[in-house]
Amino acid sequence: MTVFPIEQFSNIETPFYYYDLNLLKRTLGIISKIASDNGFHLHYAVKANANPRILETIKDFGLGADCVSGGEVKAAVEAGFAADKIMFAGVGKTDKEIEYALDANIRCFNVESLPELLNIDEIARRKKMMARVAVRINPNVDAHTHHYITTGLNENKFGISLEQLDDFVKTALTLENIDLCGVHFHIGSQIQDLTPFVTLCSNINEILRHLESLGALISIVDVGGGLGIDYEQPEENPIPDFETYFNIFKKHLILKPDQELHFEPGRSIVGQCGSLITKVLYVKEGVEKKFAIVDGGMTDLIRPALYQAHHKIENISNSESQIDDVYDVVGPICESSDTFGTDERLPLISRGDYLALRSAGAYGEVMASGYNCRKLPGSVFSDDHL
Ligand code: LLP
Repeated sequence: MTVFPIEQFSNIETPFYYYDLNLLKRTLGIISKIASDNGFHLHYAVKANANPRILETIKDFGLGADCVSGGEVKAAVEAGFAADKIMFAGVGKTDKEIEYALDANIRCFNVESLPELLNIDEIARRKKMMARVAVRINPNVDAHTHHYITTGLNENKFGISLEQLDDFVKTALTLENIDLCGVHFHIGSQIQDLTPFVTLCSNINEILRHLESLGALISIVDVGGGLGIDYEQPEENPIPDFETYFNIFKKHLILKPDQELHFEPGRSIVGQCGSLITKVLYVKEGVEKKFAIVDGGMTDLIRPALYQAHHKIENISNSESQIDDVYDVVGPICESSDTFGTDERLPLISRGDYLALRSAGAYGEVMASGYNCRKLPGSVFSDDHL
């Protein structure tokens, strides 16, 4: 259970992210044990949270890194991730980013288009290097999640479609500075009904058979991330059911002995360990509603405004109170979408109370912005001496 040391919060400027490092380490202990028992390769998706202490903790458990920009590759290198465990994906890699990643000698580029492949080949030729490449294939599997975070459908901008795969592979096999060694997939994020992963496995089996017939030697099979977390009951389900998730791939994927299975979990590792802590500025009686106006807003945690996501709200200053009321919990930003919750039944709220927005460890701090000339939120760790 995450315990918030609120008596020590008075010296810290709100809003800030509070990270329960014990929970993060427990989660990492479980996922890395399953991976090592089964010979799986884990690359943490840095995009979920790139806080240096989070990265360092994850690196200490031996995971690799999945990066989507040169900045993320740099953050991973600086946090001490081994270069041969770094993957670099993304639909729009710049020349500078490609050069940096080649110089860092990362494990593999996940390539998303033919023009990108040709560009990597040219840069590698200039540098007299070989670029290891996995082709990101769009398997056209519907992940049944929010449409902004669905990535594996033909209409999405990601990856190479099955129709265009042959052309891509045949070209890759002719390029002298490209070593086509892998296939990469990612069908979406916050996936809770796991059946799309079963479909993904059977599509991958077929694709691997086909690539073999084209003469491609595939040693890396990277199935991306996407496992969801329980936003409504973070205390009851602090650690996702990794066992069931991994078993799907164990059961349904047909790999050769020399083929490695790679995963890129983001949210499922860091989601539950973080909370946004915000202070109540005012309780405002509206005509039909009562508003709890807090000092944190969509600039600190954009998920509710962007994806209509709901983060469980707790009044951690008054959690034992028997008296409750119904509030809209809103931020101070000049946008109506700056709302964390509507009609939330919460223990009585007063000015100065601390509220925790739970399950905000993934895509929270890392997506913060300075809109309205606001300061970025800080971060506090459970082992900090406050
Ligand atoms: N691999 C690739 C290629 C990805 O695009 C992503 C996430 C991941 C791995 C990690 O997926 P995860 O295990 O975290 O589901 N900002 C959104 C989520 C965007 C996810 C983008 N890609 C949100 O707040 O829900």
